[in-house]
Amino acid sequence: PAARPGPRHFLSIADLSAHELVALVRAAQRAKDAVKAGNSVASLAGKTVAMMFSKRSTRTRISTEGAVVHLGGHPMFLGKEDIQLGVNESLFDTSKVISSMASAMVARVGPHQDIVDLAGASSVPVINALSNAYHPMQAIADMLTIAEVYGLSNLKGLKVAWVGDVNNVLYDLSLACAKLDINISVATPMGYTFDPTVLKLVRQCYNDLTAAAINIFHEPEAAVENADIIVTDTWVSMGQEEEKLQRLKDFDGFQVTDELATNGGAKRDWRFMHCLPRKLEEVSDDVFYSPRSLVFQEAENRLYAAIATLEAFVVNNGKILG
Ligand code: CP
Ligand code: NVA
Repeated sequence: PAARPGPRHFLSIADLSAHELVALVRAAQRAKDAVKAGNSVASLAGKTVAMMFSKRSTRTRISTEGAVVHLGGHPMFLGKEDIQLGVNESLFDTSKVISSMASAMVARVGPHQDIVDLAGASSVPVINALSNAYHPMQAIADMLTIAEVYGLSNLKGLKVAWVGDVNNVLYDLSLACAKLDINISVATPMGYTFDPTVLKLVRQCYNDLTAAAINIFHEPEAAVENADIIVTDTWVSMGQEEEKLQRLKDFDGFQVTDELATNGGAKRDWRFMHCLPRKLEEVSDDVFYSPRSLVFQEAENRLYAAIATLEAFVVNNGKILG
């Protein structure tokens, strides 16, 4: 008999076509409306979702666990002290065993290869809850947030400016922007290089018919010129704690402030985004807690992004219904 096709996994925004990304953002918007109206669909009833987290999490854990409950399923949170996630047992064996008992795995790992390995051995969908390379559910929530502010049909030609580290959040944000024809300008200190493989992927995503593009600078002012939205993230991601002192020195001058936006010539009504958790060094309180800031809307939207993701990949076997 012909081999059954394996499940569809969601490891990065690169796994979605532009059309599917739009559909997922729309689905997240519908999920938000349904939750606000007190309606929920028990489409995961009787199903267990294993959430394997080898790093701390507030938003991803709560949004995913909450999303499974909204969908009528049972989330099983498995922290790094609870199970053998690459410790005492291979990822291959762990994945075989968990996928024989759960309907999906949502995993937060260090090296991206770990989630690739989990997916490779799994008979159920695997969803990336953050790896060192990508953070796809964050990017869905970010696109929902941007769509709420500007309108889903008005995204083309917007300009996002990222000021800070080159990391997992930036990579999936860049892929999402490219697929939606949003321009993105990135400013990182010298020596912090945008991964060339991801950069190539991002460039390939832009629609040739539009002028939208990604541009990389080492001067924060250059990146924020004409920006609609300024985005940053921590300068010290989980796992980089030992580099903290060096990084604080290297990123000196990269804090997002009103002054930076004014000096660099951001749009007058620019907005601010951050995936959180936030430290004071990368963005001033004046910006973070200002009316420009979308950070708490963005954090709440993680719930609706998680519901849409689980519906698409776990309930509908990877079919993303627009
Ligand atoms: N933004 C985000 O993923 O936050 P957590 O690390 O708290 O899940
Ligand atoms: N870049 C951060 C994101 C946390 C949500 C990290 O990897 O720690």
